[in-house]
Amino acid sequence: MEMKTIQRAADYVREKIGTADIGIVLGSGLGSYAENMTNRSCVPYAEIPGFPVSTAPGHEGKWWAGDLGGKRVYMLQGRIHFYEGRSLDEVTMYVRMMKLLNVRALILTNAAGCVNAAWQPGDLMLIRDFINYSGINPLIGPNLDEMGPRFPDMSAACDKSMGTLCLEQAKRLGVQLREGVYMWFSGPSYETPAEVRMARILGADAVGMSTVPELIVARHCGLPTLGISCLTNMAAGMLDQPLSHLEVLEAANKVQKDFRELITATVDAL
Ligand code: HPA
Repeated sequence: MEMKTIQRAADYVREKIGTADIGIVLGSGLGSYAENMTNRSCVPYAEIPGFPVSTAPGHEGKWWAGDLGGKRVYMLQGRIHFYEGRSLDEVTMYVRMMKLLNVRALILTNAAGCVNAAWQPGDLMLIRDFINYSGINPLIGPNLDEMGPRFPDMSAACDKSMGTLCLEQAKRLGVQLREGVYMWFSGPSYETPAEVRMARILGADAVGMSTVPELIVARHCGLPTLGISCLTNMAAGMLDQPLSHLEVLEAANKVQKDFRELITATVDAL
């Protein structure tokens, strides 16, 4: 994707709803958090020039600006996934737009399957690191030199100080926050039990279909980023029952309260 396409889309957002300090992306089942902002206004994805529109159930497709935790924030209600057939340039476009809009920190949330047998559905997990199991990378193609280097370092792809700050807030609130490794599968089919066993052997604590491309692009352009997974279900084969998207949405809904408190406190502390 060319810089001017990203710049045009960013300019449109700025013109319609202004700027913000912090960006938050709401994952599956977490979209209603946008109601927590005051003084809010939004622009539908479909109106932003060149911006992809999400089709996944539970992903609204609105770019909000509003006040939350004493800060001006952007909230993206609904993300675009690679499995929707969009390019990774499109999937990660909003990250680069946020960089151009001078956002200084990004919080990514998602729903994920739990691979760690000691944990439970409904647990929240800070993404400490990730495994890109997809075989593709959002930075393939001509490098956008204005954004970052050809070979960006990924030894701290998830911002350490943001992670520490979020853990501190969790502790203060009495919200249990796990820490672990997220492994990205392209989806849209859920993993097989054999893939989940493999993920565990390779060091994953959670599996999911998003977030990693965004983390890579955010690191590339130097935008400090924090990822939080809502572990909505035990990954395939861990329990004697099939997975369903409904189960994922219901579980995400149950942890809304903890999740909201944690994100709001983190934004406040940033
Ligand atoms: N696998 C992949 N993605 C997911 C899962 C899962 O088990 N649950 C929620 N998103």
